Order: sequence, then structure tokens, then C-alpha cells
Amino acid sequence: MQTGHRPVATTFANLLLVMRPQPDFIHEFVPGTSNRTLLLLHGTGGNERDLIPLGRELDERATLLSPRGKILENGMPRFFRRLAEGVFDLEDLKNRTNELANFVAAAAQHYGFASDNVVAVGYSNGANIAASVLLLRPEVLSAAILFRAMVPLVPDKQPKLSSMRVWIGAGTDDPIIPTSETKRLAELLRKTGANVTIRHFPAGHALTSQDLEAAREWLMTLR
Ligand code: MLT
Repeated sequence: MQTGHRPVATTFANLLLVMRPQPDFIHEFVPGTSNRTLLLLHGTGGNERDLIPLGRELDERATLLSPRGKILENGMPRFFRRLAEGVFDLEDLKNRTNELANFVAAAAQHYGFASDNVVAVGYSNGANIAASVLLLRPEVLSAAILFRAMVPLVPDKQPKLSSMRVWIGAGTDDPIIPTSETKRLAELLRKTGANVTIRHFPAGHALTSQDLEAAREWLMTLR
């Protein structure tokens, strides 16, 4: 019989959940030995394990936080819906951007890492949602490395990103993202005051060791 009263244990457990937010993405968490955290965001069809080795190559001491995108496109995980290649479902993108930013904030509390030193490292679809976080919820990031990124959306209100450093790696022969699109992203971010470094590599959409090496050197110049 339903009495309308919840058992005390359930209520107490719920209270604990409210006090200590649980990160709600499937994710990998690898503690580090410095106070920097890399937020690793995979490409379409990837998962939370994909970018762990890359994260370690970029910074052997950083904490690594790597969520799996919640959208499935023909069975392939992504961070937001798209209507066609390069054509995004903007409502979904905005919601997913907020969801991801909330996850980062909850994970910082849950695991106890510094919330003011989180560097997004995204590839392709992961780079696009990282750019969207920069534009809509920049408070959860202190810098970003965007491999093969495009303009995810143009925000209604331009954020102020004067303390944000962003590195963008583009492939000159990328069949998915033309160099004009990467430049458009760099211009959009520069208009917000962000300090943007853009590098072009003789490559396609796939990452190269040159991308990695250049991004690693750039990361070492951050505090
Ligand atoms: C995207 O959908 O984010 C871009 O088209 C990149 C991709 O995932 O192929």
C-alpha cells in the first residue's frame, strides 16, 4: 500500500546526492599530480577512453576527465545532434552545452579538482562542443585546444573571454572543415577578446603527430 511517505534511508540518500552532485555522463577520470585538468572530448563515434592516451601525451601530470557524448547517431556517440554533416541542431547544441558545463562543475566538486584550471581538449565533434562551451558557458574553462573545429553557433550575446587562451589545429586538406571555417571560428573567438593561436597542418580531418607536438608545446606555455 502506498502511504505517501518515503523511507527515511531513501530521503537521506537523496539529500546526500543533492549535497554532492554526481557527474551524470559516462566518463573516465584519471587523477593527476598537478592542479590542471584536461577535459577530453572525443569525436563522432568515439568514447570516453579514446583520448586518454592523447591527454597523457599532452600533459603527463594533468588530471584527465573524459565524458562520453550522450547522443547516438546510428550507434555512434556524439555530444549533440546534427541535421546533416556540419549542420547542427542548435536547440540541442545549446542544451547539451549546458549539460556538459554542469557536468564539469559537478565533477570538480565530486572529485575535488581545481575548477579554475580546466583545459578543454576536443577533437572534431568534441572540439565543436568545446567551442560552444567557450561561447555559452566559459566559466567552466580556463583554456581550450580545438583539433579540427568549426563555428558551432553564433551566440546571441557575445561573451567576454579576455583571459581565455585557445589553440586551434586545422588540416589544410580537411574534407569536412574548410580552412575558411576554421578562420571564421578564430575571428569569432578573437572578437570576444580570447587570445587565439591557429595552426594549419598539411593533413586531413585525422590528427597528426605534428598537431600533438604543437599543442603540447602551446600547453606548456600556460601557467
Ligand atoms: C560535427 O558534427 O560536430 C562535425 O561535423 C564534425 C563531425 O563530427 O564529423
